[in-house]
Amino acid sequence: MAGLGRPVRALRREDRPALAALVAAVENFNAAERECAMELVDIYLGDEAQRDYRFAVVDGAAGDGAATVAAYACWGPVPLTRGTFDLYWIAAHPAARRRGLGRLLMEHVQGRARLEGGRILVAETSAKESYRGTIAFYQRLGFQEVSHIRDFYDVGDDRLIFIRRLT
Ligand SMILES: CC(C)(COP(=O)(O)OP(=O)(O)OC[C@H]1O[C@@H](n2cnc3c(N)ncnc32)[C@H](O)[C@@H]1OP(=O)(O)O)[C@@H](O)C(=O)NCCC(=O)NCCS
Repeated sequence: MAGLGRPVRALRREDRPALAALVAAVENFNAAERECAMELVDIYLGDEAQRDYRFAVVDGAAGDGAATVAAYACWGPVPLTRGTFDLYWIAAHPAARRRGLGRLLMEHVQGRARLEGGRILVAETSAKESYRGTIAFYQRLGFQEVSHIRDFYDVGDDRLIFIRRLT
């Protein structure tokens, strides 16, 4: 559905409350993950010169519930690599899923990374049942699973690493 024609734009300071509401609404993020997600938002908003974290958002639309930011992504270059980027976070409001916003953001992230010489985009996620949809999303978008570490996050909570080659 190509995001229903919605534009992707950079995160702005005034988006912070809406982004916090979106992060709070993502059912599979726990409290520590929400806190970590917002810490990166504050690094980005607090220091215009930093280049470690980049943010893009898609505005909400009718049918997205109360969300004024419907989806966002955070990514950045991995230190000490040449052309490897990490996708730190990507999320769509539960009321705005399966409408192409995740794909739209991922295409944006890949395009921006390529402009900076990006070769590889890395996405990490949990193998827990609650991330089944996220895993399907990465697979659908052409990511390959390259690592599976059992009990990484906790006993019974494995880490999966997916990559997408950009060149
Ligand atoms: C992962 C996530 C961002 C996907 O966003 P989305 O906007 O719903 O995804 P899209 O609508 O762009 O889907 C892109 C493709 O993935 C597929 N897909 C997305 N969610 C899926 C699911 N739950 N099950 C199966 N396939 C799925 C879609 O079918 C679509 O394929 P198509 O374009 O060929 O039809 C969203 O589900 C989410 O926010 N999840 C919770 C947060 C999370 O786990 N983030 C990742 C870790 S930081």
